[in-house]
Amino acid sequence: MAPRTDVVQLLLVVGVSGMVAAAPACSLLGQPALPLLSAEGDINIGAVFSLHRNALFKVHSFTSRPEKTPCISFNPREFQFAQTLIFALEEINNSSDLLPGLSLGYQVYDSCGSVPLAIHSALALMNSLEPEDSLGDPSSCSRPPAVLGIVGESSSTPTIGISSLVGPFSIPVISHFATCACLSNRKRFPSFFRTIPSDFYQSRALAKLVKHFGWTWVGVVNSNSDYGNNGMATFMEAARHEGVCVEYQEAIYRTDPRERLLEAVRVIRRATARVVVLFLGLGDLIPLLNELALEGDPGLQWVGSESWITARLLAENKAYSFLSGAVGFAIRNARLDGLEGFLDKVHPSQAPDNTLLREFWETVFQCSFEGGIEQGSSTLCTGTESLAELKNQYTDVSELRIPNKVYTAVYAIAHALHNLLTDLKNDTDSGNRPFYTPQQVLQYLKEVKFRVKTGEEIWFDANGDAVACYDLVNWQQEKDGTLQFHAVGLYDSSMPPEQRFTINQGELVWAGGQAEVPVSVCSESCPPGTRKAVQKGKPVCCYDCVPCAEGEISNITAVVFSIHKDTPIVRANNSELSFLLLFSLTLCFLCSLTFIGRPSEWSCMLRHTAFGITFVLCISCVLGKTIVVLMAFRATLPSSNVMKWFGPPQQRLSVLAFTLIQVLICVLWLTVSPPFPYKNMKTYKEKIILECDVGSAIGFWAVLGYIGLLALLCFVLAFLARKLPDNFNEAKFITFSMLIFCAVWITFIPAYVSSPGKFTVAVEIFAILASSFGLLFCIFAPKCFIILLRPEQNTKKHMMRKTSNDIRY
Ligand SMILES: *[C@@H]1O[C@H](CO)[C@@H](O)[C@H](O)[C@H]1NC(C)=O
Ligand SMILES: *[C@@H]1O[C@H](CO)[C@@H](O)[C@H](O)[C@H]1NC(C)=O
Repeated sequence: MAPRTDVVQLLLVVGVSGMVAAAPACSLLGQPALPLLSAEGDINIGAVFSLHRNALFKVHSFTSRPEKTPCISFNPREFQFAQTLIFALEEINNSSDLLPGLSLGYQVYDSCGSVPLAIHSALALMNSLEPEDSLGDPSSCSRPPAVLGIVGESSSTPTIGISSLVGPFSIPVISHFATCACLSNRKRFPSFFRTIPSDFYQSRALAKLVKHFGWTWVGVVNSNSDYGNNGMATFMEAARHEGVCVEYQEAIYRTDPRERLLEAVRVIRRATARVVVLFLGLGDLIPLLNELALEGDPGLQWVGSESWITARLLAENKAYSFLSGAVGFAIRNARLDGLEGFLDKVHPSQAPDNTLLREFWETVFQCSFEGGIEQGSSTLCTGTESLAELKNQYTDVSELRIPNKVYTAVYAIAHALHNLLTDLKNDTDSGNRPFYTPQQVLQYLKEVKFRVKTGEEIWFDANGDAVACYDLVNWQQEKDGTLQFHAVGLYDSSMPPEQRFTINQGELVWAGGQAEVPVSVCSESCPPGTRKAVQKGKPVCCYDCVPCAEGEISNITAVVFSIHKDTPIVRANNSELSFLLLFSLTLCFLCSLTFIGRPSEWSCMLRHTAFGITFVLCISCVLGKTIVVLMAFRATLPSSNVMKWFGPPQQRLSVLAFTLIQVLICVLWLTVSPPFPYKNMKTYKEKIILECDVGSAIGFWAVLGYIGLLALLCFVLAFLARKLPDNFNEAKFITFSMLIFCAVWITFIPAYVSSPGKFTVAVEIFAILASSFGLLFCIFAPKCFIILLRPEQNTKKHMMRKTSNDIRY
């Protein structure tokens, strides 16, 4: 980190001291830089890409100091960026609306991802050095810049170098890929713009994401670069605000010695956090992944930054399959009509002298032209090879997230220029060609607002940042074993803060292909009877559970459930229905009292109807609970959705509706032919038995039949739900209680019909009490057991664990 910053600072000093001083700076670096791709036009635009990879990319292959030039290994992805720039310019060139009558040119430089070369390129673009210009000649530096704006660079650190250098001269720099929030500093970078969102938003969005899934204990690894360090600092700050604690933070860089990487891997593997946020550039991530892969799947949930979360390179490599389930924010994808054909048309014959085009051809087709660079290659390039038949990073147009940003950057410059020229033409009606400078383009860029072909509206805020719009991407394993990126949510900074983040939770698949959200916390929530005690010197997310002091414990009686109302087990079991059920069971017990005593007209009417109604209330509560369980697990809806379709209001309504039907039946019965006291003289000759005649037998059996029907329905549903995965599955207990209920009432029928006189009442009371006790014990006893005797199981985690999760823990 330190040496690279030094270079920037050195050249920064050179840069701000003026144009004249810039020429010696050129000679500092030896040869003047030359564009690798260029075309002359009335208006020229500069660009800097990392057309080659840094030689320092592969860390392990060096045992000694690497050679000076970092430019090795042609990078097809960056070449695609460069071709997209040319494509956009050609489109504008062809357009009759935008800059009509003007031809556009370009100069594309290569920085090889290195800061000195990026600055070298920027110097060349500033000074329009011609190859024949002698270095050190002040005249070569005092000419107007060759370009009106610069597109680039692909990573933050070289972009900082370029914008520090050209900023004082007000030459606009628009980056398509530099996300460091540090670049939004208008004082340091007065001419910087970007079409890619700033990490200011991404880091906050990542913190929100981590919080959203309840991961309050995470590990973080970042690139030891401007991108990683700044992004991570913002993330840590935002995470602290969200109440998320960070267990460890590791910073690595691609040139670090292997020991450093192994140390980071050790920390990651040993830590207790199950979720790791990787704020890394792709080049820094790959060495780390290689080391991680050596010891097999670490079984962690990965959260990624935009630089690697859509990298096909990683998803297609089987060695990195442990990344499946990764989530992160990605730049939105786009379609650029016509680009594919344009990319396929590129051919060395377009510019026979251009070495870059030849190198491109030789690299992608693994052949060599005579005297070409790829000496080791045996096959000779024929020139008839077809790009259209090739599948690689360059020809792939399914992921145009970054090329789209190059495209909009070019259009932004063109629109600013167009507006400038329109104004100038209105001002000076002379036929002379108006004179314009990069400084004017800069002014117009600040106010530019336009819509590109893809429908996106582009404008820059006061810091030069465009609107931040991300897709939430999830890596899901397809049937054929490959990893694919699925968009499962959206982040849009142009919306009000609370509406920025939307997520389709049901579509997410987690690490290891699991459907439930992984748990990553430092301490479990405390069981009842204990309270949190923060551990000294540890983050707030880590605490011990200490027993409450004496006198603080609430006394435990049959009100067990209301005292423990807020503990997970009572909550998971839907306290409202549970309380209603308890209440109606109490009524059921009371019902049996109406059967005792001398039958009067009133008590005869009351005993059957009261019993009928309270029992239906009871069963419909049980039915409601069963439906909730069934819906939660059968329809693959996330639990919040179940609450939407069968939430408390719907539950109340259904209980009410079921009970109302019974009330109607009873009302009908009572009005048509109510029960009445009756002196039975038939059964015993010597005694008269005062009993209740049911009046209408149909009414009596309808009341009982309706209860039976509901019980049966409840039994069937609970039976279906009994095997669903849930550590505290009520369905099992409901099934069992309904079984007892049905058994009692089925035996009741013959007993009732055949028992004489006063015994019928005894049979009925017995049936009521037996079935009420059945319900009470089967549904509430297991819960009381857990609440009172096994408090350690009364935690959210225990409730959410499925039987299958032994795989991961
Ligand atoms: C723009 O058009 C002119 C001719 O109209 C041509 O010379 C120039 O090469 C074109 N530029 C690009 C970038 O295609
Ligand atoms: C520009 O116009 C030329 C000539 O009409 C055409 O061949 C080329 O494909 C066009 N380029 C783009 C990018 O539209």
